[in-house]
Formats: sequence, structure tokens, C-alpha cells
Amino acid sequence: MIKLGVNIDHVATIRQQRYTDYPDPILAALKAEDAGADLITLHLREDRRHIQDSDVFTMRKMIRTRMNLECSLSKNIIDIACQVKPNDVCLVPENRSELTTEGGLDVIKYNSTIKDVADRLSSNGINVSIFIDPDIGQIEAAAKIGVGVIEIHTGKYSDAKFTEINNELFRINEAVKFAKKYGLKVNAGHGLSYDNVASIATIEGIEELNIGHSIISRALFDGIYNAVVIMKQVIFEAKAK
Ligand code: PXP
Repeated sequence: MIKLGVNIDHVATIRQQRYTDYPDPILAALKAEDAGADLITLHLREDRRHIQDSDVFTMRKMIRTRMNLECSLSKNIIDIACQVKPNDVCLVPENRSELTTEGGLDVIKYNSTIKDVADRLSSNGINVSIFIDPDIGQIEAAAKIGVGVIEIHTGKYSDAKFTEINNELFRINEAVKFAKKYGLKVNAGHGLSYDNVASIATIEGIEELNIGHSIISRALFDGIYNAVVIMKQVIFEAKAK
């Protein structure tokens, strides 16, 4: 069964909008785990627009599944990751003006920095993945760095309309096949929703999906427990077909 990582950043987004102490992303993570989340994903951004340092440290002690911490290459963020020691770190690009992570990390351009950061994290016992576009050159560069895991950015697929959708699915399929030849573990995420997740979930070789915005949005109406259960069910049914 494909694993579901529930990204709880947007619970913290609502809290930070008013600098209150609610809603609590840790409580959300625990409820997501009760509902069957296989791991909890969170992004400690340099601008701290949602998740705060204290969330990361508390979450590490409280969750019972796995913690997947999304990090930029900034030294300050990597220092924190090395203290927290999440199970996994996913290296992502970051840009202050973006609404969300736009595009994958450019592994070709930032090759030596990424290698240094990945080596440092690995020597702290942390599994490292790199968030990249479904691009053969990027995958090859990631494999050569020596990380064992990539997460394919599905944002373009999620935003695609009409015939573009199949083109994006084709690119992702080809990227997964290529990554598998290098023995990489392949995860995917970004912009996945109840309506578009099935086609990604059925791609042979994808092991984990990280989904946040659509689940937290649905939680407003159905509660986080049900929002996670329904997402797991949609993924399960897609796989079972
Ligand atoms: N994976 C990565 C690496 C991300 O940066 C994000 C967004 O934080 C997600 C998955 C989840 O994206 P979404 O919130 O659109 O489901």
C-alpha cells in the first residue's frame, strides 16, 4: 500500500494568522496518525510563516509514526534539523515571495551545496530526500549525489488542464521509471487533492505521497480524522482498480 504523509503546515498557517495558540498542529498530527497517516510532514520555513521551531521540537517527542521535515539548504535550518533528528529530511527550494514551494530543487545548479548538506544530515542518522521536478537530468544528478530518495514535484500535474494533464502524467511516469533504474525510492507530492490523486497513486514505483493543503481544507468541514481516512480510501481504491 502506498504510504500517506500528512502535511500539517496549514494548521499552523491559521494559528500564525492571529498569533494565537490554536489550532495546534501537534494535535492535528496526532489525530492524523489516529486516522492512519503513515508519517507527518512539516516545513520549517526560513520566514517561519507557519511552523515554528517549538512545533518541530515538540512534534518530534509526540508523534508515533515518522517525522518528515522539509528544509531549505540554509545553514540555520539544517542546524535545527540536526538537533531535532527527524526520521527524514526532504530538501526543498525556498523563496520568500512564493505562496508555496514552486518547482523542485535545482540539483544540477546547487550540486555541491546539496551534497554537503545531504552528507551532514546522513551523518546525523537522518534519511535524506530531494524534492525535484520530474526531469531526467535532475534525477540523474540526485542519484549521483548519493541520496536514496527523491520526492517528485506534482505541482505542474495538479495545475494542468485538459490535454496537459496526460502530458504531465507521462513525464511523471517516465521520471519514476528512470529513478527506479538508479535504485531510488520515489515519493511524490504537491497540489494533490481528492480529485486528482488517483492517477498519481496508480503509478508503479511511487511509495509515498505527501499531501497537505487539500486534507487540511477538507478537515474544516469533515474534521481531520475523516479527511485523512477519506484520502487513504481514495488512494486505496485507486490502487485496487
Ligand atoms: N511535498 C513537498 C516537498 C512540499 O513542499 C509540500 C508543500 O509544503 C507538499 C508535499 C504538500 O503540498 P500540498 O500542501 O499542496 O499538498
